[in-house]
Amino acid sequence: MNVLLIGSGGREHALAWKIAASPMLTRLFAAPGNPGIAAEAECVPLSMDDHEAIAAFCRDKSIDLVVVGPEAPLVAGLGDRLREAGIRVFGGSAAAARLEGSKGFTKDLCARYGIPTAAYGRFSDAAAAKAYVREHGAPIVVKADGLAAGKGVAVAMTLDEALSAIDACFEGSFGAAGAEVVVEEFLEGEEASFFCLCDGTTALPFGSAQDHKRVGDGDTGPNTGGMGAYSPAPVMTPAMVERTMKEIVEPTMRGMAEMGCPFSGVLFAGLMISEAGPKLIEYNVRFGDPECQVLMMRLKDDILVLMQAAADGQLAHMSVRWRDEVALTVVMAAKGYPGTPDRGSVIRGIDAAAAEGVEIFHAGTALNDGQLVANGGRVLNVTATGRSVAEAQRKAYAAVARIDWPEGFCRRDIGWRAVAREKAGA
Ligand code: AMP
Ligand code: GLY
Repeated sequence: MNVLLIGSGGREHALAWKIAASPMLTRLFAAPGNPGIAAEAECVPLSMDDHEAIAAFCRDKSIDLVVVGPEAPLVAGLGDRLREAGIRVFGGSAAAARLEGSKGFTKDLCARYGIPTAAYGRFSDAAAAKAYVREHGAPIVVKADGLAAGKGVAVAMTLDEALSAIDACFEGSFGAAGAEVVVEEFLEGEEASFFCLCDGTTALPFGSAQDHKRVGDGDTGPNTGGMGAYSPAPVMTPAMVERTMKEIVEPTMRGMAEMGCPFSGVLFAGLMISEAGPKLIEYNVRFGDPECQVLMMRLKDDILVLMQAAADGQLAHMSVRWRDEVALTVVMAAKGYPGTPDRGSVIRGIDAAAAEGVEIFHAGTALNDGQLVANGGRVLNVTATGRSVAEAQRKAYAAVARIDWPEGFCRRDIGWRAVAREKAGA
């Protein structure tokens, strides 16, 4: 099988690593890829936005399956374009990608199908949004409707914060994504990321993880794309997975099919596990980054078999097996992230770190005169497995210590909640 993987982050490096291990694989290409992905795949300089060039490449190289990593090309219709050309795709249609591309769309779906989520209002002008906020009081959550690279959400603890967040949206801080605003109830509980592989009809549970969104230790400082993760998430017990499937995922699959946009690819539910049970915070139509890195480390089965079944509508016949171990990943970022990080600093010691028995997935890296350099905010994912979160954490940080990169930083407490639980249970 010839496979083309779209993307260039740590998520895609983990996918490339797992796809490359499949006995079904003949050739793996990645567009555009990164220096880490280049160890597993042939990187090709195709732009994710150039759907025609991607379709032409697929015909030229007899690609049997395209795996789309990030959401932007799905929202922009890459999946539809390729399917029109008769090319098999792991990833949904633009109409189905509205689950991530429009928060208002997802909230309306929840209301229509009785899916538990925060109470909300949708607004296209500031005055009405502010009136709703004044009526409901703080804490309250203000979200730009569209894709805002994870930055369009304000969890406002005071009325003033909520009012300024509404102004920021309508004054254009998030461009077109902020032309509509969703204001919603503040949910309390423990967050978890839950994944399903979907084929339009069937949703197959595909593991859970917990990510660390804040940049600083102890969950402080601004939000990021994710500074580390571990899998599985202890709150996602078999009973909680069953409730989530029944109350959230299955009605979503049914609703999307009824609306004429059946969902296929990865459904990533951001959940709040409250005392009343699971509630949906948001959907994404792709794997989480860095959650994908820990899922791939634990997956026993052949990812290509599963992705092919998802693309062909055959998931009802599949099951998923996991290694009986925990996986944990520490993100190393360039100083300045999540603001504008410095680029070009040299990273040494990757091989010594890998010798600690971990996988090091590349995100924003580049080669400059043969030297590995930082080329983005999140740069490396140091990923370990262990019999406990504490053991995986020890292994990951032992490897981090061998990476010589003074211009980089990482959180020192990835997995803290789970490690505390393990200690309390011991
Ligand atoms: P999102 O981009 O929708 O994932 O939101 C980013 C983060 O904001 C989430 O991971 C939560 O920590 C927080 N958040 C979003 N919506 C709510 C809510 N309704 N109640 C509490 N926290 C929320
Ligand atoms: N790590 C969270 C995300 O990928 O959205």
